[in-house]
Amino acid sequence: MFKRFRRLRINETLRGLVEETKLSTDDFIYPLFVREGEGIKTEVSSMPGVFQMSIDEILKECEYLISINLKSIILFAIPDTKDSVGSECLCDESIIARTIRAIKEKFPEMFIVTDLCFCEYTDHGHCGILDPKTQTVDNDKTLEISAQQVIVHAKAGVDMIAPSGMMDGIIGTLRKALDENGYENLPIMAYSTKFASAYYGPFRDVAESTPSFGDRRTYQMNPANRLEAIEESLEDEKQGADILMVKPALSYMDVIRDIRNNSNTPLCVYNVSGEYAMLKHAGAAGLIDYERVMMETLLSFKRAGANLIITYHAKEACELLLQK
Ligand code: PBG
Ligand code: ZN
Repeated sequence: MFKRFRRLRINETLRGLVEETKLSTDDFIYPLFVREGEGIKTEVSSMPGVFQMSIDEILKECEYLISINLKSIILFAIPDTKDSVGSECLCDESIIARTIRAIKEKFPEMFIVTDLCFCEYTDHGHCGILDPKTQTVDNDKTLEISAQQVIVHAKAGVDMIAPSGMMDGIIGTLRKALDENGYENLPIMAYSTKFASAYYGPFRDVAESTPSFGDRRTYQMNPANRLEAIEESLEDEKQGADILMVKPALSYMDVIRDIRNNSNTPLCVYNVSGEYAMLKHAGAAGLIDYERVMMETLLSFKRAGANLIITYHAKEACELLLQK
């Protein structure tokens, strides 16, 4: 005797009935990159289909995204001026604040997440203020200015804050700053388990945030450490994170499952730039069926235990899901 598994695979309707994991247009957060100017929409060569856009172009994009039921975005900004402490992002006229206000005015239903970090705003490209002696990021000084940055985003009307700098204590710091300023209902999605990964390469082209010296290994995690990966997320949960995250995605599926099994907090996965670029370029070269590989990849994140997916594929995935 043996079990006939094939009985439940006999036709599409039955396969659908017993399907354990489903993708929907509600699952995605789509990254957008804003820069100064007007009428600017510049494609990034390493990431076909991903653009740096001026605010007017971002608004056109938002209109289209809403039409395909893609109603969550994560915003990154590329400022015109950079300095050692990233002061551009600490004022209410910061490009990120103007973008949030412009989107909210025209599309109040668009759910806006902001990436909160300093690497796009500092001339050295690191994720915070440098300690002049060691030339590494000063954790606690960076916490102080992060508490200022978060209020700029909150005042502009952001819907959720996503700190990505991997500073210790960042969640507690931001939660306290928000609560003290009347934003106790503004959620925080922690980049709680973020590895020092070579998969971020194309992102640093588009965000113009490559460190001018050294790397991020003194603050981002060692890809070798599975137990520490769980501890990082549980610590952010303790400090008040509303959503946890694993980043990158594909090489860290075990970590997604570990965190899912250790916590009941919603879990996001960031399907990063290098992962997107691999599929895009393989598809363009005719090596894979791009759309099918994309959907299989996105599905696998949910199967691994993620509830939300940040992905550059979001637009194409929603288009496909609507056609079904
Ligand atoms: C900024 C930030 C990075 C990414 C998201 N926020 C780059 C980095 O940490 O170097 C990576 C996203 C991607 O590769 O798609 N701290
Ligand atoms: Zn950063």
